[in-house]
Amino acid sequence: MPQPLFSSRARPLTGTVRVPGDKSISHRALILGGLSVGKTTIEGLLEGEDVLATARAMRAFGATVEHLGPGRWRVVGRGVGGLDEPADVIDCGNAGTGMRLLMGTAAGQPITTFFTGDGSLRRRPMGRVAAPLAQMGVKIVARDGGRPPLAVIGPETLMPITYTLPVASAQVKSAILLAGLAAPGETTVIEPKWTRDHTETMLRHFGAEVRVRDDADGRHITVVGEPDLTGRPVIVPADPSSAAFPAVAALLVEGSEITLPGVGTNPLRFGLFETLLEMGADIELTNRRIEAGEPVADLIVRHSRLKGIDVPPERAPSMIDEYPVLAVAAAHAEGATVMRGLDELRVKESDRLAATANGLAACGVRVAVDGDDLTVHGAGNGVPGNATIAVDLDHRIAMAFLVLGMAADETVAIDDEAAIATSFPGFKDLMNGVGAAIGTSGATA
Ligand code: S3P
Repeated sequence: MPQPLFSSRARPLTGTVRVPGDKSISHRALILGGLSVGKTTIEGLLEGEDVLATARAMRAFGATVEHLGPGRWRVVGRGVGGLDEPADVIDCGNAGTGMRLLMGTAAGQPITTFFTGDGSLRRRPMGRVAAPLAQMGVKIVARDGGRPPLAVIGPETLMPITYTLPVASAQVKSAILLAGLAAPGETTVIEPKWTRDHTETMLRHFGAEVRVRDDADGRHITVVGEPDLTGRPVIVPADPSSAAFPAVAALLVEGSEITLPGVGTNPLRFGLFETLLEMGADIELTNRRIEAGEPVADLIVRHSRLKGIDVPPERAPSMIDEYPVLAVAAAHAEGATVMRGLDELRVKESDRLAATANGLAACGVRVAVDGDDLTVHGAGNGVPGNATIAVDLDHRIAMAFLVLGMAADETVAIDDEAAIATSFPGFKDLMNGVGAAIGTSGATA
């Protein structure tokens, strides 16, 4: 039974919010741990449904994956080319990242791997990964439109390729680089628009040779195939994409000041915070440091009066998952915020462009979608709320609208809380612990 959640006006949000580990980095740590020889210890792994599905998958490929304590995991890998053929279908749940990265991983083995996922993932396009893998000699059999369930059949010898990404997707880039590990010679991905570089950083961390060069046609990322990867310790930063929700909540709720410790500040992930700063947000970055090759800082976020701005399309890859919550911030801002170049939002866990626009309209916010651009007209004097939002298996839509409810005139509900555990287990209790009023009934919320 779907469980609705209600979010009513919050008290000032104050205190420390410990956001769970980065989803992107957690998937990669488990996968690269499984492709390494020896022991990988992981601190701060996200124990959300998406990542747990990848942990199960790596076990099915023959790696030893053990849960040692909260966020602490140990992986003993099989080495590049050493994975077993899974005895059953790999179920990636809701995780597009999990499926795409694992498709690249499976492609590097002369084995057949079957993949499926939940109703959301089975709607999502995998042809964008299948196309470059096919050039490497991999056979992929999928449903219409390249959709899962699908099978990946790895060849005896994979061909290294040079591939220009037709869409700005770190998942596609990563799938190719992971497959490239098993190919003799050099595999190069050219990205005309830069995308998150966690795979490159972590590949180096585990001992692979990765070269990066910026050229007129984009960034060239080359991995040298058949490396000996060695198990390494990994510290996973708090996820900036999850930190986005409490951060925007604190900006919107009067009198708030919260601290978010150890949040990843990789510039290729930090577009939302850059945008909020331009909108006039009071966000301080302190205690900046590097952990396992990734930049991290503590964020202090205070209630702020925001103003609408124009968000350029070039920024989209660095904040692709954050548009729903940015649109919520924009709804409370003074004036219009125009977010341009959002085509990729249509193929996320749900059609997030439509879900965001429809949800805001239901809450009494004036919005317009023009092609791939979303305009939110912030009235600056409050959002009516008083709506129930259909989550459609999308965790970020669920959390964005709960945040909207924290500063709306009337309660906002989501129709199913289950999706939140995909990326942010404990969201409700964590937020209620600092002053939010999220509950399972409208009256007690
Ligand atoms: C991710 C990349 C992004 C992002 C997703 C995680 C990753 O997807 O939306 O949540 O870990 O590489 P695309 O690269 O397909 O845009």
